[in-house]
Amino acid sequence: MKNIFLIGFMGSGKSYAARVLAQKLNLPYFDLDVEIEKKVGTTIKSIFEKRGEVYFRNLETELLLYSNFSGIISTGGGIVESKQNRQFLKTQYCIWLAPPWQQIYSRIKKSQRPLVLNNTEAELRAIYNHRKPLYEACADLVFYDSNLDKLLEQI
Ligand code: S3P
Repeated sequence: MKNIFLIGFMGSGKSYAARVLAQKLNLPYFDLDVEIEKKVGTTIKSIFEKRGEVYFRNLETELLLYSNFSGIISTGGGIVESKQNRQFLKTQYCIWLAPPWQQIYSRIKKSQRPLVLNNTEAELRAIYNHRKPLYEACADLVFYDSNLDKLLEQI
C-alpha cells in the first residue's frame, strides 16, 4: 500500500500539514526528522555540527527506505537530493507543498536550521531553485495554497 509523503523546502509547512491531514484522515503520522532525532538521541542541528551533513543524509535515506512507516509522513526539505530517495518516493503518493519563496523565507529566516545558519538568502534561494525540479519529479500533487481543506478535497 502507498503512503502519503509530504515533500517541499524547509518552511513550506510539511509537518503542520501532515499532522492536520493525519488527524482528518484518521491515519498515523510520522515526521522523518523527529524519527532521526529519536534514533540518534540528539537534535538535527547537533548531528550536522558533530557528524556532518553526509552522516545525516545517510540516516535520512536509511529511515526513508527501511522503516516501513505507514500513514502520513513528513520529510526533511533535502530528501529529494538523493536519487535513491527520489526513486523510492516515486513509488509512493507524494504531495509537494510549494508556497511562494517569500513566504518560505519569512518562515525560516530566524530558525536554527543548519542550512539556514550556514547560507545567505541568495544561497538558500539557489538551493531551492536546484531542488524545485526534484520535488516536481516526485510529486503526484502540487499544492500552492495554504488552505488545508482544499488539499483534503484534492486528495
Ligand atoms: C533540511 C531540512 C530540514 C532538516 C535538515 C536539512 C534540508 O527539515 O531535514 O535541517 O536540507 O532542507 P525541514 O524541511 O523539516 O526543515
